[in-house]
Amino acid sequence: MIPVILSGGSGTRLWPLSRGQYPKQFLCLVTGNTMVQETLLRLQGVPNLQPPIAVCNEDHRFMMADQLWQIGVKPAAIILEPVGKNTAPAVAMAALTAKSADDILLILPADHVVDDQPAFQLAVEHARKLAEQDKLVTFGIVPNEPETGYGYIKAGTPIQDKAFKAFDVAAFVEKPDLQTAKEYLATGEYYWNSGMFAFKAGVFLRELEKFNPKMLQICREALQTAQTDLDFVRLDKEVFSQCPSDSIDYAVMEKTDAAAVIPLDAGWNDVGSWSALWDVTSKDHAGNAIKGDVLTVDSTNSFIHSSGRLVAVVGIDSLIIVDTDDAIMVVAKDRVQDVKAIVDQLKASK
Ligand code: GDD
Ligand code: MG
Repeated sequence: MIPVILSGGSGTRLWPLSRGQYPKQFLCLVTGNTMVQETLLRLQGVPNLQPPIAVCNEDHRFMMADQLWQIGVKPAAIILEPVGKNTAPAVAMAALTAKSADDILLILPADHVVDDQPAFQLAVEHARKLAEQDKLVTFGIVPNEPETGYGYIKAGTPIQDKAFKAFDVAAFVEKPDLQTAKEYLATGEYYWNSGMFAFKAGVFLRELEKFNPKMLQICREALQTAQTDLDFVRLDKEVFSQCPSDSIDYAVMEKTDAAAVIPLDAGWNDVGSWSALWDVTSKDHAGNAIKGDVLTVDSTNSFIHSSGRLVAVVGIDSLIIVDTDDAIMVVAKDRVQDVKAIVDQLKASK
């Protein structure tokens, strides 16, 4: 099994810590390791793992190489994208890099938190078994709110296996609207898509060929024309720019008939926003998650991060306060999704 680290996202909802040149997956957000490092360290002890393939933006190549080296990981390849084309081409590129069509890829977003490592590793083992039977395996999380930023998986016929629970996927719906998400939640028949997948390289490429042959063709061309330099596989900008942009969820998972879901109960969190980070960070008796030099008086349920200066607060509740060298952000905890709007405005004003 080959771990594939998807690390090309920009993490705009964690501004001002996460920046274009330094997105969240390369930061130590939850532990002393970066999110990329945690993604691989979480697999330690899984048998028969081959060296990982990382796919990231070319601007981040040295950060990626350094962070892998720091944890003693020698990658099979670091594929460098000159432009982001979302996750479907990134996965296709990894699948085309695998030596055999039967190699199983374990697709891992580089920015998740998983609390229960043994439960996670057990699910990975079960996923490997289903992937060997030519399934495209997803890991399903039991939802607890009608989150519209996730994919929803409707569990279908149970897959008979004495060792573990799994289902064929009856429907996969990426990012439904709020009303639909509420309906799905009420039925109790849906899981959230965790964004991690396991499948044979050849099975994924076969499905992509069916649904988006142009994407596959350009990914092939991009790899054929790529420059290889040490572990780096540098895709040609002119060629790769022609590639249609789409996520694996829309491009393949919504359309395929070969998907299966393994329920995952391992304390998963995708740390997609400041409130999600508050959720997974340890807190003081008043519910404040504090990083750096911070003084609180009569303050509750807040996330307060100082990168150097003293940050002092009195009488606040449910705020996110992040102080960095060049920006201070203060946001109500229930408005964290709108941090992206700040980044959009900043981009527009440049
Ligand atoms: N190499 C590369 N290139 N990686 C990318 C690119 C790209 O162009 N775009 C995103 N990624 C990486 C991100 O860094 C992240 O690790 C992962 O791919 C997933 O991308 P997101 O942008 O975070 O996806 P999402 O959160 O909107 O949705 C996905 O994850 C949800 C769970 O967190 C989907 O799979 C949903 O169905 C799922 O529920
Ligand atoms: Mg995400």
